[in-house]
Amino acid sequence: MRERPGLAERRGASVQVLSLFRRGLGLGIVLFALAAGVPATAQDPAAGRALAEQWCASCHIVAPGAGSSDQVPSLQSIVQDRDRSEEWLRTWLSAPHESMPSLSLSRMEIADLVAYLESLRATE
Ligand code: HEC
Repeated sequence: MRERPGLAERRGASVQVLSLFRRGLGLGIVLFALAAGVPATAQDPAAGRALAEQWCASCHIVAPGAGSSDQVPSLQSIVQDRDRSEEWLRTWLSAPHESMPSLSLSRMEIADLVAYLESLRATE
């Protein structure tokens, strides 16, 4: 069986558009940060969420409003029910843990993750 001609190319094209868009978005954020005079270490909750979806979602529920599993607390329940402070979270994420793989996060990534976790605190 043959695929309709052009389908694969079209699919390839849309992936390209998406990655262009991503690159453009990243550049936009950098330019915005530069224009606003924000230091390069500014915390970005959106980037933190993306990181969480990439690195934490295999174990933790990342999205706000979702329930917790028995074994692993959802990220939202960590900041809401357990009331972990920003400082505590930063320290936790900086050090490797037995129950969690060593993720070797950069300070920037930790700042973004903590910013995302802090944003969950405010969500119902
Ligand atoms: C391989 C599975 C796994 C991954 C991946 C993982 N975690 Fe965890 N995490 C756990 C487990 C299990 C616990 C519970 C450990 C405990 O309470 O001793 C935990 C606990 C935590 C805690 C402490 C909760 C508390 O209040 O005691 C935080 C904060 C946390 N994880 C954040 C993260 C973040 C952020 C990421 C992604 C960067 C991540 N974890 C990735 C398994 C994981």
